[in-house]
Amino acid sequence: MVAARITVNGKETPLSPAAPHTTVLDLLRERGLTGTKEGCAEGECGACSVLVARPGVNKPTDWVAVNACLVPAAALDGQEIITSEGLATVGEPGTRPTLHPVQEEMAVRGGSQCGYCTPGFICSMASEYYRPDRCAHAEPAAGSDAHADDAEHGPNGFDLHALSGNLCRCTGYRPIRDAAFAVGEPTEDDPLAQRREQDPPAPVATEYARDGATFLRKDTLAETLRLLRERPDAVVVAGSTDYGVEVNIRSRRAECVVAIDRLPELRELRVESDHIEIGAAVTLTEIERRLDGDVPLLAELFPQFASRLIRNSGTLGGNLGTGSPIGDSPPVLLALEASLVLADADGERVVPLAEYFTGYRQSVRRPDELIRAVRIPRPLSPVTAFHKIAKRRFDDISSVAIAFALDIEGGTVRKARIGLGGVAATPIRALATEAALEGKPWSAETARAAARVLRGEGTPMSDHRASSVYRSAMLGQSLLKLHAHTTEAVSS
Ligand code: FES
Ligand code: FES
Repeated sequence: MVAARITVNGKETPLSPAAPHTTVLDLLRERGLTGTKEGCAEGECGACSVLVARPGVNKPTDWVAVNACLVPAAALDGQEIITSEGLATVGEPGTRPTLHPVQEEMAVRGGSQCGYCTPGFICSMASEYYRPDRCAHAEPAAGSDAHADDAEHGPNGFDLHALSGNLCRCTGYRPIRDAAFAVGEPTEDDPLAQRREQDPPAPVATEYARDGATFLRKDTLAETLRLLRERPDAVVVAGSTDYGVEVNIRSRRAECVVAIDRLPELRELRVESDHIEIGAAVTLTEIERRLDGDVPLLAELFPQFASRLIRNSGTLGGNLGTGSPIGDSPPVLLALEASLVLADADGERVVPLAEYFTGYRQSVRRPDELIRAVRIPRPLSPVTAFHKIAKRRFDDISSVAIAFALDIEGGTVRKARIGLGGVAATPIRALATEAALEGKPWSAETARAAARVLRGEGTPMSDHRASSVYRSAMLGQSLLKLHAHTTEAVSS
């Protein structure tokens, strides 16, 4: 097996002697690339953003920005990354480097004051700069009233959500937005634009061991499942957006970490006539772009799920695998009546998500099982909404999350599915509220009566995010809001 190494700014960098838990951020900084900064070490500030060459959605390769503070360096064995230092073009000795177009715009438009956050903004901005369909989206679609040049999209098609995971404490965001909305298109001789036309680096089987700890990546699902049977203590990581926080903030040091993010069997997304199957290791950004609004409830979820940086690494498998009662995807998937395909070395079983969670961060999944895929039945209910109650609009954790999927025919609720997060030890279905809605006219009176039932669902607790009373109140309010929005839509 070839010694683990990463290509950083075009140069191969061996991992050794870094420990297996070493993050990409720490590796870069230890090797002198100190442009990449640590702000929070838990995926919330974006100061550590770097670009990774990943399988593309519209081209063979995408330059994807990720939080280097969360990703174990060993997870990028054989991969290519670009840091803020690698974006500028260095000329002859003694001459000044030529800034990358996003660096140039940030400099001339005053997008940087103390500069601490700037390299992270630059990498997130560069990822959006190289998004293949960015400029295509600058023009409104034929027949569409919407213009891409709105509060969140520039006239150049730049989607500000690309920066939703980057915080700046001193410049202020307007000059940064000005820079983002001023960047043009990559030129034909731009090496990173050209790199998109070639295949991304293939995943590499990795066995990186030091000081009694091992990071492993197998080539296939079958090999991985056999490994998990031998090592039920292993920590399984895809985007590492949860485990990375444990490593940094709680000093967790697993003896054995197994990467599953590039297993081909977990990377498929298929739309069939009666269901949609989403591989557990397809990133949230890939799902968002590949489904392109085909599942409206998921489309409503994604912009509210953490930040673009997290969505570039995070997966549905990971969000369900951690079993958090405040994960963003479970309420939505419960409302969509999703099932999970669980695989072990002997075969597969399908478990409805409503029967998956058994307690706080516990589920029916055994340690030697992996979530292979999430299945969403079709047809989809036509009336859907996702309400995430949090202190910030983006890049935040919910106090309460509510997802609705209703079939309303001839003014009557034929079917209601409601998923809740943040009101119990596990995500739950609001079964009593569903029963209170089904068969009733979709009227203000029904909504008020069902909202009273919804306020009593779960056993919400009081903590630093919200009181139990507030959480219950938000549940009821959410249903009233849904009713108001749907009836506005019908009457307008
Ligand atoms: Fe804050 Fe990585 S250091 S997101
Ligand atoms: Fe100082 Fe952003 S420029 S934090």
